[in-house]
Amino acid sequence: MDSLKITILLSVVYSCSSLSVKLIHPIKNGTEVAVLIAPGAGIAGSAYNPLAVALQNESPMKLWVVLLDDFLVGAVNPPQLIQVVSMAKSSLMQAGFKSDEIYLAGHSLGGAMTAMYGFNGSGLKGAILFAAYLTNGNHLKDFPVPVLTISGDLDGLTRVTRIASSFEDLESFMKQDATAVYKTPVIVMSGVNHADFASGTMPSNVKDHDLKSELNQTEAQNTISKYTSAFLLCNMKNVEPTVVEYAKKVLVLAYNTTKALVTPLIEMKAMDENSQSSSNWTKIGQKMVINAVDNDEKNFATLEFYQPSADIQSEEAKIDTYTTVSLPFDPIDANPGPKSPEQLQAKMKTQESVSSKTHKTEYLKAATCKDINEAAFKYAMTKSSKEAISRFQKSGRKITFLNDTQTSSGPQWLAGNLNLKYSSSGMVVQSVVLKTNLDVILPSFAGQYYCKLLSPFRAMEFIYLDCMVPYY
Ligand SMILES: *[C@@H]1O[C@H](CO)[C@@H](O)[C@H](O)[C@H]1NC(C)=O
Ligand SMILES: *[C@@H]1O[C@H](CO)[C@@H](O)[C@H](O)[C@H]1NC(C)=O
Ligand SMILES: *[C@@H]1O[C@H](CO)[C@@H](O)[C@H](O)[C@H]1NC(C)=O
Ligand SMILES: *[C@@H]1O[C@H](CO)[C@@H](O)[C@H](O)[C@H]1NC(C)=O
Ligand SMILES: *[C@@H]1O[C@H](CO)[C@@H](O)[C@H](O)[C@H]1NC(C)=O
Ligand SMILES: *[C@@H]1O[C@H](CO)[C@@H](O)[C@H](O)[C@H]1NC(C)=O
Repeated sequence: MDSLKITILLSVVYSCSSLSVKLIHPIKNGTEVAVLIAPGAGIAGSAYNPLAVALQNESPMKLWVVLLDDFLVGAVNPPQLIQVVSMAKSSLMQAGFKSDEIYLAGHSLGGAMTAMYGFNGSGLKGAILFAAYLTNGNHLKDFPVPVLTISGDLDGLTRVTRIASSFEDLESFMKQDATAVYKTPVIVMSGVNHADFASGTMPSNVKDHDLKSELNQTEAQNTISKYTSAFLLCNMKNVEPTVVEYAKKVLVLAYNTTKALVTPLIEMKAMDENSQSSSNWTKIGQKMVINAVDNDEKNFATLEFYQPSADIQSEEAKIDTYTTVSLPFDPIDANPGPKSPEQLQAKMKTQESVSSKTHKTEYLKAATCKDINEAAFKYAMTKSSKEAISRFQKSGRKITFLNDTQTSSGPQWLAGNLNLKYSSSGMVVQSVVLKTNLDVILPSFAGQYYCKLLSPFRAMEFIYLDCMVPYY
């Protein structure tokens, strides 16, 4: 029986021995700190050597870096991450590291695993998520240690449209605790992509999805290092107050520039995903369908019921529209694809249903679903940053709108989806419409105008990202 136990122990030692750690010794004296870096899937630990060097040059501290490597099938996983962190700690101690300031950083999958690491009671002082984020349902305010979320706006896997939600989480934490801007910063760097954190040839899943960086590796990694160093300085003990003050300024400036970068995305998303559960875009669409001259906007109600309904008096039409927002299926919040709604299933009233009952005589041509979709794109263009528009124009890709697909019954309309075809020439958009006359047998179905609409946030995500995605 004893010999069997020994066999099991040996096999554990064997699987553990595949892991490795590479210690990079500090180049400066000062307060001591160590950063361990867990790699992205299929990326070698050594690919983070240039980033480690940039970070050591940037940081005024006595900074050690430990590159974690040789995970099973090249993918950081929770049990091996626990093992390799303890290997890294022993190597540091053996080499003369005398502090307890140890931070765990991870890139991409390594970052996702870092976010899931059991920090409470681990002795680790903080987390650094390179092109990674806390997944849905996990909030910055509940994270047991300080955590930096940092990525680029040209990241084709960790989309800025996803990090915008992390930034919203930061903003809600900051309402309770203004120091969250130092403890749990969320930073988006302009011009940086997913691969910029590492070096060398990227695995195919990165190559296939990532956008083209606008910086060279040195510039990108110096930027990453500037923010990472400031995050460390703001959260470590025994740092000179003047140095901390400077680091705080760096993080506040990063907060300001990130806020400016993500605000158009957050505002566009809120058109259809908001706490009032009200689709503002459908309200705009309804106005376009009725298209009365001199209409007074206050008449368009915000209440939404399952069926659109209209209470029409001679002077006033109070219309309730109904919208179902279809979000992309992504149960574990790890899909590199678009984050914006796939469609808005909008139930509106026809122009005739209003014009037949009001005294108003002047109506212009009623909008089609296609017209509303074109307006969504134009609206997204007016709200996009100059930089996003310039990248979109440079991409050469276009959005093309096809005539609406007609349906003749509710079930037929429900079964159809907004057709969004992405290709290397751009995106083709085609809506599905159901229009009923005023004289249909079922009065509650009279004068309905149903559209599968393009969400303006989806149009904006195309302008910001999908116009440059290589795999379409
Ligand atoms: C750090 O301090 C030690 C002891 O004073 C000294 O020997 C060493 O050269 C210093 N290293 C650097 C990089 O300044
Ligand atoms: C950490 O663990 C302690 C003891 O188990 C617990 O009381 C505390 O709430 C935890 N903190 C966080 C932030 O999870
Ligand atoms: C990277 O860009 C910087 C600033 O534009 C430039 O000074 C540097 O030479 C570039 N480095 C490489 C390796 O191209
Ligand atoms: C950040 O923005 C705030 C508010 O607009 C401003 O008061 C502050 O000076 C800015 N800070 C930096 C460092 O840019
Ligand atoms: C939606 O519309 C209502 C009323 O028109 C407005 O008060 C609200 O701010 C809008 N919300 C967004 C996110 O645009
Ligand atoms: C699209 O609709 C317009 C207006 O109804 C019509 O003139 C045009 O021929 C249609 N185009 C196609 C390709 O069906």
